[in-house]
Amino acid sequence: MSKDVSLELKNISKSFGRVAANKDVCLTVYRGEILALLGENGSGKTTLMNMISGIYHPDSGEIIINGENAVINSPRDAFDYNIGMIHQHFKLVNVFTSTENIILGIDGKKFNLETAEKEVKAIADKYGFEIDPKKKVYEMSVSEKQTVEIIKVLYRGADILILDEPTAVLTPQEAQKLFAILRRMRDDNKSIIIITHKLHEVLEISDRVSVLRKGEYVGTVETKDADESILTEMMVGKKVDLNIHRSEPVNAAVRLEVSGLNCTRRDGVKALSDVSFVARSGEILGIAGISGSGQRELLEAIAGLQKLDSGSIIYHDPKTGKDENLRDKTPVQIRELGVRLSFVPEDRLGMGLVGNMDITDNMMLRSYRSGRPVFLDRHPPKELAQRIIEDLEVVTPSAETPVRRLSGGNVQKVLVGREIAAAPTVLMAAYPVRGLDINSSYLIYDLLNKQKENGVAVIFVGEDLDVLIELCDRILVIGGGRVTGVVDGREAKKEEIGLLMTKTVKEESANE
Ligand SMILES: Nc1ncnc2c1ncn2[C@@H]1O[C@H](COP(=O)(O)OP(=O)(O)OP(=O)(O)O)[C@@H](O)[C@H]1O
Ligand SMILES: [Mg+2]
Repeated sequence: MSKDVSLELKNISKSFGRVAANKDVCLTVYRGEILALLGENGSGKTTLMNMISGIYHPDSGEIIINGENAVINSPRDAFDYNIGMIHQHFKLVNVFTSTENIILGIDGKKFNLETAEKEVKAIADKYGFEIDPKKKVYEMSVSEKQTVEIIKVLYRGADILILDEPTAVLTPQEAQKLFAILRRMRDDNKSIIIITHKLHEVLEISDRVSVLRKGEYVGTVETKDADESILTEMMVGKKVDLNIHRSEPVNAAVRLEVSGLNCTRRDGVKALSDVSFVARSGEILGIAGISGSGQRELLEAIAGLQKLDSGSIIYHDPKTGKDENLRDKTPVQIRELGVRLSFVPEDRLGMGLVGNMDITDNMMLRSYRSGRPVFLDRHPPKELAQRIIEDLEVVTPSAETPVRRLSGGNVQKVLVGREIAAAPTVLMAAYPVRGLDINSSYLIYDLLNKQKENGVAVIFVGEDLDVLIELCDRILVIGGGRVTGVVDGREAKKEEIGLLMTKTVKEESANE
């Protein structure tokens, strides 16, 4: 049986100034399949998809939909060809409900909100989405917002759906739910293109994988014939060592002593309950937990950004030999002591970087904020920017390129690199590899290991349990704001950590 082609790209090229983002790219997508689009950060995936969805126009090449040459000059044109794209940065109106957002911008039709709500519900039921048609966007979790974005394109009749890193913002559990929905869409004969950097997801969800490298099309493989090392080699162009080399802790001395932290969120929910632990120099302490279990509050408390109900955070200063309670200090004083927090948020441009400024100026930003004398001379930040670009293989024409022109993953490398470059004594890295390709992820793990070898107390918050086990010396597990266990990274088992992660949550729901 021959398969039905829904979308074909022929020799698509697109440049931004001197940067050739796509060079002669060809791609075939069938009806009733899930195609994964894979490539390193900056390899041109988003650019290619933006041309199909009408955001950019190719410099040359053809887009063929259902056998006909398509002219797509705007997102509206793309909709007319039944193409819908779910972007990484959601475009919803906060004060509107799900339904209002879904019907927003559709004209030529008089809307009865009640009818629309029923239609939304019908789509949700068909594919297995959970959605409250009356809920306002500002009350929604990231995963709920994503659901609205997907139903929005389905409501417009999309049968070619493009999802750009949809799982980067989801917990593993939410990702599983999304995959179940994508499979139902595939069975409904839709074409789905998904971008993700997580190779285990590619292997789990896709039927075929197409790979881009430096803007060029490398090839396509059937997923059943692929594995992580085959895909990595296609992506990078050479074999990559996918092992983390954990060194033995050196000169481990207690650097941070956290005792009895309690913290209540603004909505009255307890974010941290009696959290105590130590972090040592020359060691990587992992923090594992279901997203939203108090990780953010904990790290922000140490950085002085979170109000606490009680507890103490004693910092043993290696420079002076003195003990300081970080609770008595301002965020600026804490940073000056050498305690650095790099928290990679869901919206990468939202925190810490200014899109219109170039990489060099973004390096200086931290110094402005900390109230230290501003660099009058751009040399030190320029060198710093240059070093980060080299160490982390940031894909950019130069250090003077505005950050918003970089691909998502490269923005993030700048963000993480800046904190690492600050020569901290305590480095807290939360989700540093979110949105990074596999090669860059390993560069980050190597850098964290180097920090450890230099005597830094590293605290690493991660989502991938395999990585936590391979990278960390000890792993602190938190569930529902409590410490549910501390395990040795060299002996820990995934199942054991998984159980500890859900421990408090289960106990609490059992008591209800
Ligand atoms: N609007 C723009 N102006 C200038 N350069 C751009 C623009 N958009 C993308 N680029 C450049 O084009 C190249 C490809 O970027 P693209 O965003 O398509 O990569 P990607 O494969 O999606 O990467 P990531 O995995 O990091 O999201 C990068 O070098 C990027 O800096
Ligand atoms: Mg991208």
